[in-house]
Amino acid sequence: MSTPQPQLTPAAYRFINLVDKDAPDTFASDIGTGLAASPKYIQHKYAYDAAGSDLFERITQDKNYYPAHAETEILTRFSPAIAAILADNTALIELGSGSSVKTRHLLEAMQQHQGKTLFCPIDISGDFLQANVKRLSADYPDLAILGVIADYYVGLAALADEIRQPKLLLWLGSDIGHADPASAAQLLREKMLTALKPGDKLLLGIDLKKDTDILHRAYCCGEYDDPLRYQFNCNALRRINQQLGGNFVTDHFQRHCFYNDVAGRVEIYLKSLLDQQVTLEAIEQTFDFQAEELIRLHFAHKYDQDDILQLGKATGLTLQQQWFDSKALYSLNLFTVETK
Ligand SMILES: C[S@@+](CC[C@H](N)C(=O)[O-])C[C@H]1O[C@@H](n2cnc3c(N)ncnc32)[C@H](O)[C@@H]1O
Repeated sequence: MSTPQPQLTPAAYRFINLVDKDAPDTFASDIGTGLAASPKYIQHKYAYDAAGSDLFERITQDKNYYPAHAETEILTRFSPAIAAILADNTALIELGSGSSVKTRHLLEAMQQHQGKTLFCPIDISGDFLQANVKRLSADYPDLAILGVIADYYVGLAALADEIRQPKLLLWLGSDIGHADPASAAQLLREKMLTALKPGDKLLLGIDLKKDTDILHRAYCCGEYDDPLRYQFNCNALRRINQQLGGNFVTDHFQRHCFYNDVAGRVEIYLKSLLDQQVTLEAIEQTFDFQAEELIRLHFAHKYDQDDILQLGKATGLTLQQQWFDSKALYSLNLFTVETK
């Protein structure tokens, strides 16, 4: 007699891929534009492919990288309280979900509170997102997951039509801090909140202003830079070499990182160590770098309570509740979309 086979349940996940089709052209033109600009820049999103996402995950495990630890603490303690505030049958949409390790606390609380839950992680790092969704689905078989491989705004616009139930938009990691506060408010207002309806909610991780030493240890790592952060910051150069036939020599660049007290932000650059030229075959362009010249990679703006209230005001959102970690380094903010 043959042994009965276990019943195979169909995977409770699916994907929408909105990146692959246009990505090569957009990547090439964005990189060309950034390297031809003065000062030079590379958009931060291009740090993330499978290798970049993996490096970022390793940085979050560093004891000095307090934003990840503080946000984990808040979500561990307060996810049941957050879930209790939400309307029944709320779908969770996460921007830049990465590994979703912290999100697991909220997902568990939502499942506990409302039962069946729909989770829609949006991330530009496609392979990493797919692997994460498969892990989540194995660990939470009752969770319905719609993984969206896309830039934030494109993914959100697609979900706005697809999802009819109440929505909680989750944006962790203080990634709102990449833009200055006025531009962040504009981004939220014009490109994100359009996907939400009155009564829907936004749960936003926002890093707080604090002692410069703590910021330096988290982002800049003191006098002797950290190899992990260096590799992460060079990942876009590696991608450019691979995808655009570039000849960047990463050893010819060094990290340059500091807290700009006036602007209230950490600034991260790569600094050219010598006069050099870099050619990108795919776009048939050569770029000159002078010794000491910077490529801007990433800003991380820090907020105080007034800045957070101002963000709510500038976006027409009502700040419903806030949670902080025990050292008050970091905040998680629940905003509600008001009826017009
Ligand atoms: C700093 S990591 C944060 C990951 C995770 N949310 C956390 O808090 O640990 C940023 C994440 O956003 C994704 N990302 C960055 N820019 C993006 C964009 N423009 N559109 C979609 N995803 C983006 C990256 O791939 C990465 O997974």
